[in-house]
Amino acid sequence: MDQVYLNGTYTPLSEACVPVLDRGFLFGDGVYEVIPVYSGKPFRVDQHLDRLERSLEGIRIANPMSREQWHRVIDELIERNTGDQDAALYLQITRGVMPRRDHGFGDDLEPTVLLTCQPMHYPSQAADTPGGRAITLEDSRWQDCHIKSINLLPNVLLRQQALDAGADEAILIRDGRAIEGSASNLFIVKDEVIKTPPRQRCMLGGITRDLILELCADNHLLAREIDISEDELHDADEIWMTSSTREILPITVLNQHKVGRGETGALWREVIRLYQEYKQQVMRS
Ligand SMILES: Cc1ncc(COP(=O)(O)O)c(C=O)c1O
Repeated sequence: MDQVYLNGTYTPLSEACVPVLDRGFLFGDGVYEVIPVYSGKPFRVDQHLDRLERSLEGIRIANPMSREQWHRVIDELIERNTGDQDAALYLQITRGVMPRRDHGFGDDLEPTVLLTCQPMHYPSQAADTPGGRAITLEDSRWQDCHIKSINLLPNVLLRQQALDAGADEAILIRDGRAIEGSASNLFIVKDEVIKTPPRQRCMLGGITRDLILELCADNHLLAREIDISEDELHDADEIWMTSSTREILPITVLNQHKVGRGETGALWREVIRLYQEYKQQVMRS
């Protein structure tokens, strides 16, 4: 999977270069998407492209391509890389290369567009998987986390703090409420009700999260978009972290204490089954 798309050209990764005055390199001035590719088909690609459009608008970059052009480039890159394998397609747009370093930006820069493909490794989804571990940390990110910005320094530091503590993910707490993970959304189950925080400015609206809510609605599972306090998080029967690359990761240990009985829960098993069924349907269509 070594072919990348950079500013109109397909090239091997080792030959893809960006000038050092690119604002992405100097300021983290850009946005991104990670689109899962199953058996060579991009999954929920229009939902990802819709969010990309909102992120671009949020940081005042004009979308450099039409929807049709995006589809063409994505399909071509998958074709050149994966054939019919699973992959994670990374798409990044920065504000472009400036003539000299300056915080302010005009509106005359040409955005830098990069797409790459990487093999996808998902966590085990067997019913008897031990699941993942999480710790809670104070959310140190900015207010505009609904924008999928490449400026990920707080997320990176929070994730590393979790890894250093022997955990897989950090659950971020803001004003006493559990918001999301360092690179994932949060669900809990309490008394057979599935809960996830509502979309808000300080949280990324995940594509995986939206699909889970759709699947719950279609299958008569009770799911609520509602604030989750730190106390409710600790008292949950089940905790799941969701993202395009981790799908639905059951968390069985939180801050070194068992979540529920310390094993995967019945609702996780049901929802992961629905999720896999949905994927199969999409791949067959
Ligand atoms: C902060 C954050 N929240 C949530 C998600 C999950 O989003 P999605 O399901 O679209 O991958 C991500 C994914 O990278 C993320 O970085």
